[in-house]
Amino acid sequence: MTAKARVLIVDDERSMQEFLEIFFRREGYEVTTASDVASATLCLENDDFDLLISDMQMPDGSGLDLLRVVRASCEDTVTIMITAFATTDSAIAAMKDGAYDYITKPFKVDEIRLVVEKALEKKLLASENQRLRSELRVQKRKRQIIGTSSVMQRVYDFISQVADTRINVLVSGASGTGKELVARAIHDQSDRADKPFVAINCGAIPENLLESELFGHVRGSFTGAVSNKEGLFEAADNGSLFLDEIGELSMPLQVKLLRVLQEKSIRRVGGTSDRSVNVRLISATNRRLDEEVGAGRFREDLFYRLNVMEIPLPTLAERREDIPLLVSHFVEKFSKEIGKAELPLEAEALDKLMVYDYPGNVRELENIVERAVALSRGDSITIAAFPDTILRRQGVSYSCQITDKGVDLEDLVNNYERSLIGEAMRASGSVKKRAAQLLGISFRSFRYRFEKLGLDHDDRPKY
Ligand SMILES: Nc1ncnc2c1ncn2[C@@H]1O[C@H](COP(=O)(O)OP(=O)(O)OP(=O)(O)O)[C@@H](O)[C@H]1O
Ligand SMILES: [Mg+2]
Repeated sequence: MTAKARVLIVDDERSMQEFLEIFFRREGYEVTTASDVASATLCLENDDFDLLISDMQMPDGSGLDLLRVVRASCEDTVTIMITAFATTDSAIAAMKDGAYDYITKPFKVDEIRLVVEKALEKKLLASENQRLRSELRVQKRKRQIIGTSSVMQRVYDFISQVADTRINVLVSGASGTGKELVARAIHDQSDRADKPFVAINCGAIPENLLESELFGHVRGSFTGAVSNKEGLFEAADNGSLFLDEIGELSMPLQVKLLRVLQEKSIRRVGGTSDRSVNVRLISATNRRLDEEVGAGRFREDLFYRLNVMEIPLPTLAERREDIPLLVSHFVEKFSKEIGKAELPLEAEALDKLMVYDYPGNVRELENIVERAVALSRGDSITIAAFPDTILRRQGVSYSCQITDKGVDLEDLVNNYERSLIGEAMRASGSVKKRAAQLLGISFRSFRYRFEKLGLDHDDRPKY
C-alpha cells in the first residue's frame, strides 16, 4: 500500500514544499504539490489522494479550508496539518475539523515518517472495516426472506412489530418454511443485532446433554464435565437465543426453562449460584404446540411464556405466487456459488415448478433448483434437470410457442387434457365421478378419455 500511496503536499513556502516532495518520493509515494488553497482544492476535487499534508497558513486561506473540501468530496483522504508555530489552538481546531494529526515546524524526518505511517495504517484499517461491513451487508442480503405474497407481507409485519421488543416469539410452520430465517430476521432487525444470535436444535441433542448445553455446568458435576462450561443462555446474553424444535423439549427441561424465564437467571448444572441473563427467546416448532399442550405433552405455562406472539409461516403451496421469485433467487445464488452463468428457465420448467406441492416447502424448492443449476447444460434450464418427483406431477400449461419447427397439435392437446384430468383427480381426491363433475363432462365421457390417455394405469398421484 505504501509503495503506491498518493500524497498531496500543500505549502506556500518553496523550500518546505521541495523538502517534503523529496522526502515522500524517496519513501516511494506518488507526489503532487500545490502552493495555495485554490490550486489544492482543484487537485482534491479532481483526483484521489491517500494523504494530504498541508500547511496551516497560506496566502489565500488556511489549511482548515482544505479540511472542509476533504470532508465534502474525498472522505477517504487522511489529512496531516503542518503548523509553523506551536499554536495548539489552530492545531486543535484542525483536529476537530477532521485532521488526523499535526506536526509543528521545525520537525525531524523521523517524526513525519512516524505520523504518516500511523495515519496510513488507520486508513487501511478504515477501508478494511468498510469492506467487512459491505461484505456483511451482502451476507445479510443472502439471508434475505424472499416473497411478496400477501401472506408473506403479514409475516414481515409481524417481524417488524416484534423486532424491537423483548417479547418472546414462537415461529411455527411446517418443515422448510423458513422458520430459522425468520428467527434470524427478527434478531437482525432488533436493537440486539450486534449482539450474539445463538441457535440450538432441541430435537438434535440428547436430553442429558441439552441441559448443560443450555445452562452450562461446573467442573465435576457429572462424568465428562472436566472443566467449567458456559451455557448457551450465557453465550446469548444481551442477544437472542433461538430454540429450534422446542416441542421436543422433555418435561423436566420444560420445568427448568420455565424457571429461567421467570427468574431471568440461570444456574449451571451442578452450580450453587444464579447468574442473571438478558436473553430474547425465539422458539420454533413444526408441531402444533397448542395441540401438544392439549395432549399434556407440553406445559401450558411454558407455552404462554414462549408464545407471547406467534408468527405462523405459510407453506409454499399457500403462496405459489412467490415461486417465480424464489426460483430466480435460488438460480442466482447457486449459479454464483458454482461460478456458472445464470441460465433462464424454460416456460415449461417453470410451469412444473408452479404446480408441484412441495411437502418440503422452500427447502425442497431450493434443493430442486440447486440440482437443476448444477445439471443444466446449454442455454436454459429445462425439465430434463428436474427430479422425477415433480415431473410425475402433471402441470397445467396454457402457453405454447409455435416455432419454425412446428408443433404436434394432437400431442399438445392430449397433454393438456391429461394435465386437466390429473388436476381434477387430485382436486376430487381421486373420486372419478367427482372429477368428471369438476370438468363439466359426463362420467362416461370422463372414463373414455381416461382410458384413451392411458391414465387408467396411473390414476393416483405419485408423491
Ligand atoms: N422466504 C424464503 N426466502 C428465501 N429462502 C428461504 C425462504 N424460506 C426458506 N428459505 C430457505 O429454505 C431453507 C429452509 O429454511 P429454514 O431452515 O429457515 O426452514 P425451517 O422452517 O427452519 O425448516 P425445518 O423445520 O426443517 O428446520 C433455507 O435454506 C432457507 O434459506
Ligand atoms: Mg429449522
